[in-house]
Amino acid sequence: MNSRAFRRAALLVGTLLALSASAAEPVKLGFFMSMTGRDASFGETSLRGAQLAVEEINAAGGVLGRPLELIVADNRSLAGESATAVKKLVNRDKVVALIGEVVSARSLEAAPVAQTAGVPMVTPGSTNPRVTALGDCIFRVCFADPFQGEVLATYAYRRLGLRRAALLVDHSAPYSTGLAAAFERTFVQLGGAIVSRQRYTAGDKDFRAQLTALRAAAPELIFLPCYYVDVGLAAKQARELGLTLPFLGGDGYEAPQFLEIGGAALNGTSYSTHFAAESDAPAVRAFVARFQARHHLLPNGLAALTYDAVRLVADAITRAGATERTAVRAALAATRDFPGVTGRTSFDAQRNAVKDAAIMTVRDGRIVFVENIRP
Ligand code: PHE
Repeated sequence: MNSRAFRRAALLVGTLLALSASAAEPVKLGFFMSMTGRDASFGETSLRGAQLAVEEINAAGGVLGRPLELIVADNRSLAGESATAVKKLVNRDKVVALIGEVVSARSLEAAPVAQTAGVPMVTPGSTNPRVTALGDCIFRVCFADPFQGEVLATYAYRRLGLRRAALLVDHSAPYSTGLAAAFERTFVQLGGAIVSRQRYTAGDKDFRAQLTALRAAAPELIFLPCYYVDVGLAAKQARELGLTLPFLGGDGYEAPQFLEIGGAALNGTSYSTHFAAESDAPAVRAFVARFQARHHLLPNGLAALTYDAVRLVADAITRAGATERTAVRAALAATRDFPGVTGRTSFDAQRNAVKDAAIMTVRDGRIVFVENIRP
């Protein structure tokens, strides 16, 4: 066959596969996330990654010759709603597997429901170590906070040369308390000191009392493990109080609204994340181009992780050769070296992935990639 005839035949086979897949009963994947409410940005970002993955999988013939269908359930960023969303996806929609949540508190809430039902749940971004400890059906495709805290403490101590840190912690969020503890462990081990400990509760908008209190201890850095809204507000208020020191935090800072909220007050702030769109790895470059063509913006860590999570679940279903939940769970657990845009994913015995972290910093109102850190 000459190459033109070959291409035509290949195109025909692809079209036939796609047609037969779309005629078959869909393979349902539940997606539960904060699509509205305080953390809507996380849901939107994550959904963009999931949509691209599903569209690409279906264009290539689907899963087991059937189309993959994403069923989206919104928890409205509210406590209690993730458990409800997962019950609905599992009992009513009869999903094969679940993708969600991002915020650790909500994964901790949903995981027992998934575990009891025996439905595999893959979290794209929950980094709190307890999440996957809730049962053998719970997996994460991202690194966990003991690693993230170590990365951030090492960066603060070695690269920024800072020795005195103040902690500002949302004591109502497991993500915040867990990451603060991990940061402190390494920072103190290296020789640094925690000179002040301040706390607040999710939803607080005024951090001036805590900032005033910590200022008295003369820290060189504020470690604030939180989501993007809080750090923007706290940084602005810190500057108003004359505090010029840098803020440092984790993956929760990453959202399109991060700079909008904090503005110039965020200059000098650094954080860790799961992915850098600036990477020159060919697979990442190709993904960034496809994502931009589809969504007209750059993918961030969360979008990339969710893209990988959906493709990894589809791969496990294919390897299982069936959509039966126990078979899919076993195939997921056996995942080794799955090639994704956030790196290769292998699950260890605790169903955690080991991944690189990327450090980003805000300079002149722009987010700049600093370095990749290997575990
Ligand atoms: N790691 C955060 C948590 O566990 C969630 C998150 C991941 C937020 C990625 C933004 C980006 O709660």
